Amino acid sequence: MNDPQKAAEQIAAAAKQNAAFYLTEIPPEIEPTRRLLEHSGIAPENVDAHIRKILIEQRDKAWAVFPYGAIGSFRFLDFNQTLQDPLFETVSKRLRAPGSAETFLDVGCCLGHIVRQLNAEGVPSERLYGTDLQASFLDLGYDLFRDRDSTRATFVAGDMIREEEPRLEELIGKIDIIYASAFFHLFEYEDQMKAGKRMVKFLRPENQNAIIFGHNGGPKIVGWEKYVLDEETWRHMWDEIGEATGTTWKTEMNVESNDEWIKVRFARGSTKIQNARDRLSKVAILIDRVTKKG
Ligand SMILES: C[S@@+](CC[C@H](N)C(=O)[O-])C[C@H]1O[C@@H](n2cnc3c(N)ncnc32)[C@H](O)[C@@H]1O
Repeated sequence: MNDPQKAAEQIAAAAKQNAAFYLTEIPPEIEPTRRLLEHSGIAPENVDAHIRKILIEQRDKAWAVFPYGAIGSFRFLDFNQTLQDPLFETVSKRLRAPGSAETFLDVGCCLGHIVRQLNAEGVPSERLYGTDLQASFLDLGYDLFRDRDSTRATFVAGDMIREEEPRLEELIGKIDIIYASAFFHLFEYEDQMKAGKRMVKFLRPENQNAIIFGHNGGPKIVGWEKYVLDEETWRHMWDEIGEATGTTWKTEMNVESNDEWIKVRFARGSTKIQNARDRLSKVAILIDRVTKKG
């Protein structure tokens, strides 16, 4: 953001809009983070104090950078939704398979909790990547997980929707699996498409089994449909991304929705489509990276 006044206005507007998400108490569902912190070497008896310190200092530092609902609600402490996604488990197994050299990138990784989770599950950190617009979120992640000097994971700050973004070039052609949680829905169609095109560029061209997955959703506030795309629009977007990148994508979507909320999981690129309909999912499936869809 080049215009400081405009940036300040956007931050103030987001703080107002997302005020309802701002929790003042530690949410109960933080077991995943508790386990991760223990894994990172914090003694179990010190974990709570560390978490409290984070809640008082770190979370508010992140909120001041940009008041995302995910920050206000400590979503980075509670990533049960990710852990409960069957595809996340599949991906973790795939990354841990003997001889696997595949890489994983979390786009809009925030503090990098998912990267640390996969590492704790046994994926070597050198095959893990995270990227976020906010370099300060990546820094907070190092503080939270106390691994600035020990992790070999790559964290890159960059803007996924900026046309020219030299900082992200190091990711081009290196990634096999991309995760994007609460990310696409930050943008309207055109910017979602830019992000999608950039993701395709990140994928290793020789891998026919690449995956892009994640979730979108949120409260049905005015205009939400522009952000949480419906099935037809999502498919259309991936057709356009395919045309622009010389790839072919097939999409599927399942939505959980009521009058107030919508939750969407979208998932997987693969040359084989199996049981995709069984999942609560919105699926972008990479069929063939070189042949355009007929
Ligand atoms: C709603 S948070 C979701 C964080 C995390 N993925 C999760 O599910 O808890 C959105 C994240 O996307 C990042 N972000 C926003 N715009 C971005 C952009 N243009 N490029 C890269 N990251 C961006 C934000 O900084 C923030 O960390």
